[in-house]
Amino acid sequence: MPRYPGAKPPSGAGLDELRTAVRGCRGCDLYREATQAVFGDGPGAARVVFIGEAPGDQEDKAGEPFVGPAGRLLDKALHEAGIDRAEAYVTNAVKHFKFQRDARGTRRIHQKPNRSEVVACRPWLLAELGVLRPELVVCLGATAAQSVHGAAFRLTAHRGELLDLPAEFDLPVRVLATQHPSAVLRAPDREAAFAALVEDLAVAATALSRAG
Ligand code: URA
Repeated sequence: MPRYPGAKPPSGAGLDELRTAVRGCRGCDLYREATQAVFGDGPGAARVVFIGEAPGDQEDKAGEPFVGPAGRLLDKALHEAGIDRAEAYVTNAVKHFKFQRDARGTRRIHQKPNRSEVVACRPWLLAELGVLRPELVVCLGATAAQSVHGAAFRLTAHRGELLDLPAEFDLPVRVLATQHPSAVLRAPDREAAFAALVEDLAVAATALSRAG
């Protein structure tokens, strides 16, 4: 039995306690079909936090974020931008996999979480960031960026810009939004999309090297 059934992170919890508590989250219905909640992963002292959308099929099974095709592309892009994934903390705006089964009922097709699911999961993201207190947050895709900045945020207008975390976070942290690695995998010109992702991540790498 989860120790913390409910929708809210226990206050004052550290990362390990949050990771345990999120297994009992019933803040939206996604827990019903998902295998497990997928919490963030990485060192507690990470200077940079990457936020994706939600776990995919492989992440849902493994219980770890960004271990599937999007994760492999992210690793490659981070490497090219000079960021060591092992030193980064990687998480998602939504902690449960959302999917629909294909017509034969065999494949699980990823579905984008809706606004109420993103809002329901937001306290977990805030709790993670509050514990980690990184120097930089990188939002991978519009879902993550809108979880951080609000639904009015437009990735197309602000991608690659170094901004401040909104005041409600009460953290002096810079934040940059870029494309989601899955969008790169789907792009008609994958090479150009990958180069643009690396370019944005290089802005993040420069910000980190200035701060460090
Ligand atoms: N896509 C995401 O947004 N997060 C993951 O963990 C995997 C794929």
